[in-house]
Amino acid sequence: MLVLGIETTCDETAAAVVARAPSGAGHVISNVVRSQVEEHSPYGGVVPEIAARAHVEVLDIVIAEAMRQAGIGFSDLSGIAAAAGPGLIGGVIVGLTTAKALALAADRPLIAVNHLEAHALTARLTDGVAFPYLLLLVSGGHTQLLAVEDVGRYRRIGTTIDDAVGEAFDKVAKMLSLPYPGGPEVESQALRGDPERFAFPRPLFGRREPDFSLSGLKTAVRVEADRLAPLTDTDVADLCASFQASVVDVICDRVRAGARQFRDIAGCGPTALVVAGGVGANIAIRLALQKTAAEIGTRIAVPPPALCTDNGAMIAWAGAERLARGLTDTLTISPRARWPLDPSATGAKA
Ligand code: KG4
Ligand code: ZN
Repeated sequence: MLVLGIETTCDETAAAVVARAPSGAGHVISNVVRSQVEEHSPYGGVVPEIAARAHVEVLDIVIAEAMRQAGIGFSDLSGIAAAAGPGLIGGVIVGLTTAKALALAADRPLIAVNHLEAHALTARLTDGVAFPYLLLLVSGGHTQLLAVEDVGRYRRIGTTIDDAVGEAFDKVAKMLSLPYPGGPEVESQALRGDPERFAFPRPLFGRREPDFSLSGLKTAVRVEADRLAPLTDTDVADLCASFQASVVDVICDRVRAGARQFRDIAGCGPTALVVAGGVGANIAIRLALQKTAAEIGTRIAVPPPALCTDNGAMIAWAGAERLARGLTDTLTISPRARWPLDPSATGAKA
């Protein structure tokens, strides 16, 4: 089974071709990502209107390149998948409409994929993880712990009550005048800083409910940065290292709480702790979670960084998983700005 996947929900225009064998094994055939970082960096964040226009400008080229690298034509595809949300609606419309046109022209099934589901299922492509597993989804827009029971069956165990983890990285970077996107910048500054110079708070640490809170930590960094201003290079590095150390502690503690909840819900332990979303690219977080996974009696599965941040392969793979179960969509499907994985979760927005 060969599936084309299209991703346009945020600031990456991406397309990929993924193969799925009858055994369920997956393989990335091509994976093309055109980042819009340059377009957005003067503004210090993603500007929705600029994002939508940039997707329109390059999506056809990105898709053609993914098909060329795969060495196939549209008639060789088993299906065409696109992220139909959640995300910035202008971009979602561009990707989904393009997929509909291709599906119609090539007479192939359309699969409308939830972007979060694509992050959630990527570890099955890269690591062959079996259900049920504990998913830590940490990106710029989302911070959730989920029990992934099957394709289409997700139970939210915990979420952030304020900022997403990636958002906190981005905001800390901005207040320290580091370039956008902030996550990788804060990580590289942290490498040469002292993680013990500042005793920043560990919000919700030790709480039974596996929820997150990041805004108090972010404020603590701001207060300290204001107190020290003007900041030396060492101050910036130490602030980043101390901030990241706090995030690492909080994430590991929240995952431990999530694992307890998982057992209560599923009646068994998770087959793996899966980390997904852009923050999963952070090495310090990956290493710390490796230990946490061992503590909770499971293994960790983290897709390689290129498949943690937004990409087309994850959309193609989620499309293939759905297609293998006969789950396809009609051309009347609508793009969605909000689309929670677990609609029953209280306050579920996306
Ligand atoms: O999944 P993603 O590419 O897009 C969303 O769906 O949000 O995640 C992007 C987020 C950004 O907030 C970015 O700063 C963060 O992931 N990020 C990182 C790292 N690389 C990306 N955060 C911490 N450390 C990193 N190395
Ligand atoms: Zn994402």
